[in-house]
This record gives sequence, structure tokens and C-alpha cells, in this order.
Amino acid sequence: MIPYRIIQRKRDGEELRAGEIAEFFRGYADGRLPDYQMAAFLMAVYFRGLSPAERAELVETMLRSGAVVDLSDLPGTKVDKHSTGGVGDKASLVLAPLVASLGVPVPMMSGRGLGHTGGTLDKLESIPGFRTDLTLSEFRRQLERLGCALIGQTDEIAPLDRRLYALRDVTGTVESIPLIAASIMSKKLAEGIDALILDVKRGSGAFLPELDRALELARTMIGIGDAYGKEVVALVTAMDRPLGYAVGNALEMEEAILTLRGEGPEDLRELTLALAGEMLALGGVAGSPGEGRAMAAAALDDGRALERMREIVEAQGGNPAVLDDPAILPQAPVRRVVEAARSGTVVEVEARSIGHAAVELGAGRRALGTAIDPAVGFHITVKPGDIVEAGEAVATVYARTPEDAERGREALVAAIRIGEGPAAPLPLVSHRVTRAGVEAWEGDAAEGGRGA
Ligand code: URA
Repeated sequence: MIPYRIIQRKRDGEELRAGEIAEFFRGYADGRLPDYQMAAFLMAVYFRGLSPAERAELVETMLRSGAVVDLSDLPGTKVDKHSTGGVGDKASLVLAPLVASLGVPVPMMSGRGLGHTGGTLDKLESIPGFRTDLTLSEFRRQLERLGCALIGQTDEIAPLDRRLYALRDVTGTVESIPLIAASIMSKKLAEGIDALILDVKRGSGAFLPELDRALELARTMIGIGDAYGKEVVALVTAMDRPLGYAVGNALEMEEAILTLRGEGPEDLRELTLALAGEMLALGGVAGSPGEGRAMAAAALDDGRALERMREIVEAQGGNPAVLDDPAILPQAPVRRVVEAARSGTVVEVEARSIGHAAVELGAGRRALGTAIDPAVGFHITVKPGDIVEAGEAVATVYARTPEDAERGREALVAAIRIGEGPAAPLPLVSHRVTRAGVEAWEGDAAEGGRGA
């Protein structure tokens, strides 16, 4: 194989022959192919896409780049969740302990921040001491004991996704249906799941803002799951504004803890319950997603989910006192309140620019392997549709320096649009996609589009 010929042929829209994708990606996995050639190939895929056969070969190659965990000896239907990426999307941090507390094992392998979106691993690692790099045997033992382990792609499981993910993050090659689908499904299939719920985002802060592209991504991932005998259900959910109030790693961790304590924003709670209902039905402990939702609401309200999170944090080396005192999380030295420049209706809280502004503050990465600042970010307390008075506080910027705080403030003033007209936010959950097709969402969350 001559790598630049493969790149040229994909660039020119040719379908590659069976075995070529596998050889190219294996070459990258074992260090024979450099980052720059893989980056060029990924950009060609971004523009040209992959045929179903090429995509299937990519999934298989990524999946087999490490161990494929067999959890069949552990009791229960193992169900995981994955989001296609959003701003302020900390639902996994509430959902995983919640579902595990109700008896459905959740082997959760997550990612780091990607582009303008945050990553579950970065958020978890804002807890002092928390380890996301469990070995395979630690992962299994914890799953057996607590019904949940929260890990990242490792050298052992889905190592190729880990490298590609980091490379795509900094080369403008994230927003591609086959690359997103292969990334998500390869690591989910490798971790030993029986079933999967996908949170497919749409709206400005999603990688694929348009509904038709979000649905195509959902169908693609459901089809991949089908090919491996796994049941996959997708909910299409709103990412035209951030989820909850907090954007930034420690701030989001704090908000997830508050939600586990029953004190979080309404939209985060509602989305979590919708996803939990589906997971509990997939896991066979609830007769329907609606019944699962009610079970999940009870476990959030009576503290079972919070207690399970405490056990998980402790088991993974984190300081469990954080559940009682989130001030233990890293704190930004500079805080700046953002005020409404005029009176009116909040017509937009534009998610993508807020995500980029958070990366600018240091909450995400600009180049391969750079460190993030866990403490920085935003707390935005208004939602589309809220009425505000001029001078009213609408957000707080958490920054490392006064200059960063000012830049963050300017970004929020532009992103939080206040006007006369009515706001038209997307419904929090709009569609449910299964292998049978697409249905309009009729769950309780359809009413709960706005935060508290
Ligand atoms: N989440 C992933 O794991 N991979 C992607 O490519 C996008 C979102």
C-alpha cells in the first residue's frame, strides 16, 4: 500500500477496495503511518464520505484495534449510553450511576472534549484523584461490584479510536457521519454491551445541526449495532442552547452532583430521565420506557443514584467528599458577572459559539495532547424564552485571568441574544429512532424543553 495513493483516491471520490481501509488504519495504529497522512485521509473522508462497505471495514478495524471485552459472564443486560456531543452536556454523569442503582449494569466508555463540545472524561477528572484509566480487570471487577465503571478509550480497549479522536479534535475532521458513527460504535461494541441508547444532538451546538443529518447519523449507528446483534435506540435531542446552566469541566461536574442531589436544572433532569427510561427498558428491568422513567425519577429523588455515584467516585480513586461539598472541585480565580444589555426576551443562547468560547478560556484543547483547565467555563442562568431586565445578571464567566474573563464576557454578550420576538427553542427531545423507524417523541420531556 502506498499511503498517499489511498489518500488521493479517497480525495477523488473513489471507493477503496476491500482490505485497503483496514490496512491503512492498521498502519496508523502500529505507528507506520504518521499523523499528517491520517489527518489528510480524514479530511478526504470528511468531504467524500465512506460507502457502507468502507464504513463497515472501518468499524471492524477500530473495534479490533484492542481487546473486545466479553461481559457475558456478568449477570444482567449491559446497557450503555453515548451522546454525539454537545455543550454543557453532562447527562452521562447523572445517568450512569442512576441506571446502575436500578440494577442495569452500565459499562461506560466515554471520550474527552472534542472540538467545541465537552467530554465526560475531562469532567470526571476534575474530581481530585479520579482515575478514568482503569485496566481491563479493574473495569470488570468494578462493574461486577457496583454495576458501573466510567472509563476512557485505553491501550487495551479501542486504542485506535483514542488516537483518531484526538487527531480529529484538532484537524477539523469531526463533523462527518461515517467518522462519528465509527468512533462511537467501535468503542461501544468493544466494551461488551448488549444494548445502547444514543443521544443524538441537533441544533447549532451539535456536530450535525440539521435534523435530517442527525437522523441519518442515528440510522447509521443503529444499522451498525444491528450488524453486531446489539439493540440500539436513539433519542434526537436539543443542542441549540447548552444543556443545564454550566459549561466547563468542574462546573459541569458540580451541576451533575447537584442534579444527583435533586437540586439541578430541570432540562438536565428531564433529559436524564428520558434516557434512563429507555436504558431501563432495554435492560429489562422496566416494562416500558415510561415505567423506566418513573423508576429513575424515584431513584434520583430518594438518593439511590447519589449514593451509587459516591461509591463509583471512591472506587475510581476520587475524593467522595465532593458529593457533599462540590467546592472541593478546582475553582477559577477570576469571576465576572455578565449582565443583560437591554430588557426583553432571551431569543437565543447560541450553543456553538459558547462551546468555542469555553475552549478559548482553556476548557478544551487547541492542539494534540495539550492540557485543559478544569476550573474555567460559564454558568448561564437564562434560557430561550426567559424575560430579562436590563442590568440583570444572566451569566458568570469563570476564568484564569481578567483578560480571559473579559473575552468570555464579550462572547456571552454576543451568544445570549435578547430581543422582542418570541423564542423558538427546539423541543428537548423530538424524535425516537429504532430499527423500526423514526417516531415523534411523546414522552414527558417533550414538554420540558426549557430549564428551570
Ligand atoms: N463522540 C464520539 O465518541 N466520537 C465522535 O466522533 C463524536 C462524538
